Amino acid sequence: MADIIRLKLHIWRQNGPNDTGRFESYTADKVNKDMSFLEMLDVVNEGIIESGKDPIAFEHDCREGICGACGVVVNGFAHGPQKLTTTCQLHMRQFSDGDELWIEPWRTSAFPIIKDLVVDRGSFDRIIQAGGYVSVRTGSPQDANEIPIGKAAADAAFDAAACIGCGACVAACPNASAHLFVAAKVSHLSLLPQGQAERQERVRKMVAQHDAEGFGSCTNHGECETACPKGISVNWIARMNRDFLDAMLKAETTLKAPKLRQVEDS
Ligand code: SF4
Ligand code: FES
Repeated sequence: MADIIRLKLHIWRQNGPNDTGRFESYTADKVNKDMSFLEMLDVVNEGIIESGKDPIAFEHDCREGICGACGVVVNGFAHGPQKLTTTCQLHMRQFSDGDELWIEPWRTSAFPIIKDLVVDRGSFDRIIQAGGYVSVRTGSPQDANEIPIGKAAADAAFDAAACIGCGACVAACPNASAHLFVAAKVSHLSLLPQGQAERQERVRKMVAQHDAEGFGSCTNHGECETACPKGISVNWIARMNRDFLDAMLKAETTLKAPKLRQVEDS
């Protein structure tokens, strides 16, 4: 017979962006250890709905660790206490009978709370949009193998592309920096031949948009890597910083070039 546990839950409830919000306590007394964390919240919500109250709003889509929608903070850990796991793939067997859980949304001003555990991560979308991919129409897609890519580069690009844009790195960072996310997104394109044409413009624009959205700077705490459910390494941040410096120096040289030529001509 499956194990059944009883939990005391303190869940952040906030009616909307302008509500101050507060923790509300619930007892979950029929939690099957085989449930996922989100299934446990579903069961809690069934009880809340039956009592005529407003269910807890939380975000989810794939429930397979792919979409990045489901993140919440559980007892201070982004996506909960199990490493390399999204909230939807966290199982209740990680918890024990009688445990007390504090469940909160991602907390940073760049992710305003919409309701309860749901935050607006539009800032991530705008960073991606700032980077773009190609600015010209390039015709029909090529055959997948038409451009040879070395295995090491392909593997590294794949590792960086594993970022699901969940925002746990921001929630875990004491500076609320999104550098791990931006570095993953910048790097997976900059490692591939198709990403070279706009490599420098892309990193400049994405880092500028990151700053404009109000995310903080990276000071090498490393909490982002610890919280990341996809194992994105902080080494990508170092790589992005090198790319960014190179792009800024080249942009500066390009802007100064006409002036230098004028001096040389006079
Ligand atoms: S780097 Fe990791 S924690 Fe940050 S958004 Fe991507 S998957 Fe989520
Ligand atoms: S619901 Fe898609 S990653 Fe969790």
